[in-house]
Amino acid sequence: MTEQATAPDASTNFRGSTEDDWAALASALIQTRFSVAPRLLQAPGPTPAELQQMVEAAGTAPDHHDLRPWRLVCIADDQRDALSDLFEACLREREPQPRADHLARARAKAHHAPTLLLAILRHEPADEDVPAPERAATLGAAMMNLMLVAHAMGYGAMLSGGRSLRSPRFARAFGLAPGEQPLCFVSIGTPQEIQRRPRPSAHELLTQWQPASGRNADP
Ligand SMILES: Cc1cc2nc3c(=O)[nH]c(=O)nc-3n(C[C@H](O)[C@H](O)[C@H](O)COP(=O)(O)O)c2cc1C
Repeated sequence: MTEQATAPDASTNFRGSTEDDWAALASALIQTRFSVAPRLLQAPGPTPAELQQMVEAAGTAPDHHDLRPWRLVCIADDQRDALSDLFEACLREREPQPRADHLARARAKAHHAPTLLLAILRHEPADEDVPAPERAATLGAAMMNLMLVAHAMGYGAMLSGGRSLRSPRFARAFGLAPGEQPLCFVSIGTPQEIQRRPRPSAHELLTQWQPASGRNADP
């Protein structure tokens, strides 16, 4: 990867653009993105240059005090068996005698999707102005940017968690520092199938503030 991401000219004014309708383009990109389950993501995955572009898009997420409260770790093809072993070990911690299908499903998770990243939330260095939810918001926004660029390139992607990520064994296996928390996997690849689903409308999500009155109001 190159040392420095190249930023577009900050004076660019998309609002005044007449040639392209940037709002329509952005909306179309966002509205046509749906998560694709990792088992439905096949080769080819993104090239190293495409992955770099996705990660640099992720790096533009809003970030209070520029803490960069996240990082990504790529799991290479030849590390997938080791990840299967880790999933199995984490499962056996929870279920010493796991059912055969649970075991098979846990192991298979490591082998889905040509590109597999682990997203790690960083709680350190501490900053009293930036509590954990703000850090998680930065990571969420970063992953959305990454998935939108992946979608624009024709790839599918999905974030997935799982109980293994909460095991201390998992953190040890990835050599996480104190204050680092594995948040989710990011799977990227060519979608075999896209399941579209309805999205909430604005009136379900946006209300007007109604200042409290009477007994509930503070003096
Ligand atoms: C951090 C995070 C972890 C997630 N983990 C899982 C998971 O383990 N399994 C799952 O089915 N969905 C998981 N989801 C939800 C999917 O990534 C996805 O958002 C959901 O399937 C809805 O798809 P959509 O992106 O098309 O709306 C997770 C979402 C987030 C933000």
